Amino acid sequence: MEIKNEAILVMDFGGQYTQLIARRVRECNVYCEIKPYKITAEEIKAKNYRGVIFTGGPNSAYDANGPKCDPKIFEIGIPVLGICYGAQLMAETLGGKVTGVNDNKEYGKTDVEFDTSSLMFHSAQEKNICWMSHTDRIEEIPHGFKITAMSKDCPVAAMEDIKRNFFGVQFHLEVQHTVEGMLYLKNFLYNACGCTADWQMDSFVTDTIKYLREKIGDKKVLCALSGGVDSSVAALLVHKAVGKQLTCIFVDHGLLRKDEGDQVESIFRQQFDMNLIRVNAKDRFLAKLAGVTEPEKKRKIIGEEFIRVFEEESGKLGKIEYLCQGTIYPDVVESGVGESAVIKSHHNVGGLPEDVGFEGIIEPLRDLFKDEVRKAGLELGIPEFLVWRQPFPGPGLAIRIMGDITEDKLDILKDADAIMREEFANNGLDRQVNQYFAVMTGIKSVGVMGDGRTYDNTIALRAVTTSDFMTADWARVPYDVLEKISNRIINEVKNVNRVVYDITSKPPATIEWE
Ligand code: XMP
Repeated sequence: MEIKNEAILVMDFGGQYTQLIARRVRECNVYCEIKPYKITAEEIKAKNYRGVIFTGGPNSAYDANGPKCDPKIFEIGIPVLGICYGAQLMAETLGGKVTGVNDNKEYGKTDVEFDTSSLMFHSAQEKNICWMSHTDRIEEIPHGFKITAMSKDCPVAAMEDIKRNFFGVQFHLEVQHTVEGMLYLKNFLYNACGCTADWQMDSFVTDTIKYLREKIGDKKVLCALSGGVDSSVAALLVHKAVGKQLTCIFVDHGLLRKDEGDQVESIFRQQFDMNLIRVNAKDRFLAKLAGVTEPEKKRKIIGEEFIRVFEEESGKLGKIEYLCQGTIYPDVVESGVGESAVIKSHHNVGGLPEDVGFEGIIEPLRDLFKDEVRKAGLELGIPEFLVWRQPFPGPGLAIRIMGDITEDKLDILKDADAIMREEFANNGLDRQVNQYFAVMTGIKSVGVMGDGRTYDNTIALRAVTTSDFMTADWARVPYDVLEKISNRIINEVKNVNRVVYDITSKPPATIEWE
């Protein structure tokens, strides 16, 4: 979908912050794309990028086997910003010198002094804190450059060649701990690259609706709606474009959280007047899952059954030309150093095979990061609670019940989980903690209630903070909130006599228990 004017290229050299850099550029309202470092100067010219950013990476710029850029990139005449490894690579390529540092490696928050007459640090403070993480450093800058920032252990914390518009920073300006990082980035984007901040979510929504209307014409579209933010926003964009030409199928597998199925139905049917088919398939899923205890087997059964139900329902609708999916940018971005595309670590329910007989796939969110999808959702009038909904795995509560799944266990878990969510919201934790839920542990333990012995279920509470869900820390939830949740679960949910809190980070644990 070619609807952007100005774009920046983020060249990935395998650094851990590549997507964060791209998100920061987007936060400055400048569109950007991530491409592997092997992209050539010719390809860059053809795409008409306004500027290029080299990311960090784990290699040494002087290592002959490390990833290198096409040196002709420096002849195109567009601004280049190198970050960490990217800055070192720029220095090496243009005739400077990079060396390993044995004694004075920098890691963490570091005091840096800036030359504020430089372009990148214009109107910045002369001294500030930046995030450093490096074992190599630039020893000699290339001809034409000047040093624009330094720290105690890093004589070239930043450099620039203002004539050619080349910039290098040793620190990570994209990381929150770099206090004025966004200002430095804006100086590069607006003052060096001449970007005008034209990437705005309101115009994205309007332009996308217009584009979809033209593309779809009078044809029909089908969408698998899960009630998650991605499929909801994707479906609503298509709905705004072509109205009732879109049919959404919402397969309720009975493994959703308490009342969730009804909420999804009422929002999309009543508030947005969408063509929605809700399939209540709980019995079917539970029958298939009866006696199954192995987590991957549960996932497989649910995934396959989902496709079967979806195909059966869509088969009743006659010819439909397009399938709409809520794929987002992190799902499609290619990794910098590997040859293959990053594959989502989990197969999502709703991930339909592409050969189910459609003329084409419509993926209106393919260029967006999650925070942009949320902004678009708010623009479209989707209620805040849905837009800010925490991630929920496709296989649903099936992977939060250890062992086999029964209707009783499902009911207990739904009630316990609803109490936890309610208390998180009451205490303002729902936006601070990235994912939180109850788990039916499958453990029974002895307790005492009144004067009697009990032997009942153990519920675990799981709450994590994370920025990317690849690593996570257990959330430091205040004791009084945990106490309230525990008391309420014991008192309000029958057949539970013990509540425990999971204090394991990821790794070594995963976020889900299965
Ligand atoms: P883990 O448990 O691997 O979870 O640390 C990381 C994130 O992925 C979600 N998750 C899934 N999402 N299908 C999904 O759509 C799945 O099978 C699945 N398993 C885990 C999990 O909720 C967390 O956000």
